[in-house]
Amino acid sequence: MDERKAPGTMPPEKKLLRALAGLETEGVPVWMMRQAGRYLPEYRKVRADAGSFLDLCYTPELAEEVTLQPIRRYGFDAAILFSDILVVPDALGQRVAFKEGEGPVLEPITNEAGLAALGSPARVTEHLGPVYETVSRLSNSLPREVTLIGFAGAPWTVATYMVGGRGSPDQAAAKLWAYRAPDEFQKLIDILVEATIEHLSAQVEAGAEVVQIFDTWAGSLPELSFERFALRPVKAIRELLQARFPGLPVIAFPRGSGAMAARYFRETGVRGLSLDTGVSPGWARDNLQQLGCLQGNLDPLLLVAGGDEMRRQARHILETLGNGPFIFNLGHGIVPQTPPEHVGELVKLVQDWRP
Ligand code: CP3
Repeated sequence: MDERKAPGTMPPEKKLLRALAGLETEGVPVWMMRQAGRYLPEYRKVRADAGSFLDLCYTPELAEEVTLQPIRRYGFDAAILFSDILVVPDALGQRVAFKEGEGPVLEPITNEAGLAALGSPARVTEHLGPVYETVSRLSNSLPREVTLIGFAGAPWTVATYMVGGRGSPDQAAAKLWAYRAPDEFQKLIDILVEATIEHLSAQVEAGAEVVQIFDTWAGSLPELSFERFALRPVKAIRELLQARFPGLPVIAFPRGSGAMAARYFRETGVRGLSLDTGVSPGWARDNLQQLGCLQGNLDPLLLVAGGDEMRRQARHILETLGNGPFIFNLGHGIVPQTPPEHVGELVKLVQDWRP
């Protein structure tokens, strides 16, 4: 891991950055995917006043406020920028709407004419100025021990929404394009690789200290397509980002990648791997932890249920992976029906735990 450390820099002090650098930490750092959101009454209030979800993402004062809400309540070790993976298609000119109870809706792109109509990936940052302003405000307002995480969707996952026009259980539209005309589909992936590098670079320039790449649908691809459309694009993004920002820690979340996770971790060269709920902590300790820092992976529904079962399964994860390098997180995002007091209890359990 030494080659990925910036030359001449001091070892970091923040707990989450230390874990990512493979250094000792006093206790296990913790944050949770979707830690800002509808399960919090203070989020619902800001969201109701903001108008649309994208208006919230593009209004720096409000996006800053909802990013800070879970930090104030729980004392997480990291804040994740409040935004969405679909701001990138929005910035490419494929307008995105978030419909109440339906999720994201886009005008589907299904052929080369659709690709030709997209704006330049080199220029996505022009549309996303308010997002970088949010990052820069946060880098001033966060408590000094809290790490600021920027993020983007991985090209494959973002492509599934761009091609399907909405979320789908099987990602069929994007898969069929990728199988019927792989070289044509590759053009969309290439556009997204470039746009993602620009979007993440602008977040780092504004003050993000770590970036996480969300590949929510990586696990739906068969091996050969996984290599081409999930692994290789994330490797390219990681390499180009670190050429610009040596030592920048990158975390990837290749959800559902199963036994492919080991190759993915090694070959993408990311510093952190976020594990989904289906990954056995013991298997991860034996096969993945020597490759870098792991993050995960409590079932978000255990956080809804709470009680003894939540505590038992959280301790199982800590006892298996907690010698580090490790960051406690969920196996996927917090769901809206989560009781906020369960989050507080889980954070305290992790904070009090020692090997
Ligand atoms: O707190 C955080 O984690 C930061 C903010 C964040 C959001 N979305 C806010 C959001 C992050 C990191 C995301 C990532 C994201 N967005 C992913 C990848 C991770 C995952 O959960 O699998 C994906 C696939 C999306 C796309 C997306 N955004 C969908 C499918 C939906 C609709 C489903 C839903 O939960 O509503 C969204 C909307 C969204 N993104 C909300 C939030 C808080 C809810 C919108 C609202 O408040 O009305």
